[in-house]
Amino acid sequence: MKDIYFKIWKLAKPYYKKGRPMDIDHIRWMIKEAEIVCGQEKIDKSLLLPLVILHDVGYGVGKHVYLNKKLKKTHMIEGAKIAAKILNKVKYSKDKTKKICYFISVHDNWIYGEYSSYKKDKVLRVFNDLDFIWMASPKGFSAVRKALGKSKKEIISYIKHDDKHKNLPLCTKTTKTLYLNYLKNQKCFGTKKEIF
Ligand SMILES: [Fe+2]
Ligand SMILES: [Fe+2]
Repeated sequence: MKDIYFKIWKLAKPYYKKGRPMDIDHIRWMIKEAEIVCGQEKIDKSLLLPLVILHDVGYGVGKHVYLNKKLKKTHMIEGAKIAAKILNKVKYSKDKTKKICYFISVHDNWIYGEYSSYKKDKVLRVFNDLDFIWMASPKGFSAVRKALGKSKKEIISYIKHDDKHKNLPLCTKTTKTLYLNYLKNQKCFGTKKEIF
C-alpha cells in the first residue's frame, strides 16, 4: 500500500478501535480487495482507497447497533466530518477530499431505498460491491452472523436474497468473480444461475 494510504489508515484506526468489533477486519479486507479491483478495472485508486479506508470511521462516535436506520445516518454524517479532518491532515487534494467525504455521507443510502447516488459514480458503485461482498467472506460472514444473532442458514439466505442483487447488481467482472468464488467455497450458497 502506498505511503499516503498507510498514513490515512493509521489516523483512521483509533476511530475503528472504538467502533464495531468487526471494523478493523472489515477495512483490512476491503483495502486488499480494493487494490486488486483498481488494478483490474481501471478504477481511480486515489478515490476508492481513501473511501474504503475511511467509510465507517463514524462508528467510532456514539453507539453502533447493526442495521439501525437512525444510527446508520449518524455514522455517515460523523464519518464524513472525521474523514475531512484526516484528509486535510495528510494534505490530500481538496477536490478529492470533497468527493470522498460526499461518498462517505451517502455510502449506506441503500438502507433507505436510495440507489441513484451509486448509479451516478462507478467508484461508489464498486465500493458498494465490496462492502456487500464482505458479508460472504469468511471473517465477514461470521462477524455479521454474530452481530445479527442469526444462524448460518439465515445469513446465507439474507445474502442470497438481498435487494442488492435486484437494485445494484455487482458491477465489474472482478467483483462478480470474487463473490462467486466465496459462494463456491460455501457450497450451500447455491449456484451461479440462482444468484445472478
Ligand atoms: Fe457504513
Ligand atoms: Fe462498511
